[in-house]
Amino acid sequence: MREIDGAIAVWYHAHGAPPEWEIEPTTDRIHPLAHSSARIVNRVQDFLENGVDVGHFMPVHHTVVSNYRHSNSGPIFSAEMDSRSATQLSVFSGDSHLYLEWVGMFCIRGILSYHKPEMEARMWAFATPVDLDHIDITFAMTATRLGPLNLVELAKNPLIRPVVKFLSRLMVVAIVADSHRDIPIWENKVFLTRPKLAKGDGPIMEFRKWANQFEQESDPDGSIRHVSDRHRGGSRAADEAEVGSERPGFSPRDHSGHGGGR
Ligand SMILES: [Fe+2]
Repeated sequence: MREIDGAIAVWYHAHGAPPEWEIEPTTDRIHPLAHSSARIVNRVQDFLENGVDVGHFMPVHHTVVSNYRHSNSGPIFSAEMDSRSATQLSVFSGDSHLYLEWVGMFCIRGILSYHKPEMEARMWAFATPVDLDHIDITFAMTATRLGPLNLVELAKNPLIRPVVKFLSRLMVVAIVADSHRDIPIWENKVFLTRPKLAKGDGPIMEFRKWANQFEQESDPDGSIRHVSDRHRGGSRAADEAEVGSERPGFSPRDHSGHGGGR
């Protein structure tokens, strides 16, 4: 068990094997200031896959995504993109830049950078399995910068901290409202091992190949195999795309555009 950026991470292995890798905290150790949780019908991997399902951003979230880049290295899968949303309620409203990092099956953590108003926030999305059909999801946010104001530093003042928490709370409300657009789809979807993907659907098969390293189950004979191997009849799909190039782990200083070292 580890506490990572204010959240509890628990390692589970089907045969009780010790952790094979560690989760690195964010370099500036920023913790969530506001969060919201709910129990929904879904699987952890399917929830996390939402962020690479580029094809649904426009029809479901009314968000145009451009310059989508992704890569993975070990337990980290990362993506960044420019987005434009016409939905005022969306956390992706207006023009923004988004950097996302999947940390194993633990969470998606990201940096949101808005252009008007110039603002920056840290985001987390956690998914905890409950049973075969349900997961608990938690969205958390911390507003980190507003124009020239370093909100992380200002929040250390007990008189100003409630204001930064309130701003972070508003952002949680927005992202939760945005995620509600996904719920009817999650509740009625059918998992296809080899979906017929169109150009622009995003690196879904690459993400599944990466995610396969985290999902294991026990067979009656005591052996362990990856869940997706079961779906594929014990062999990896030969038509999967190669995994993208490597990139370093979560490094807010490289993506905030405002320096860093907070
Ligand atoms: Fe979605």
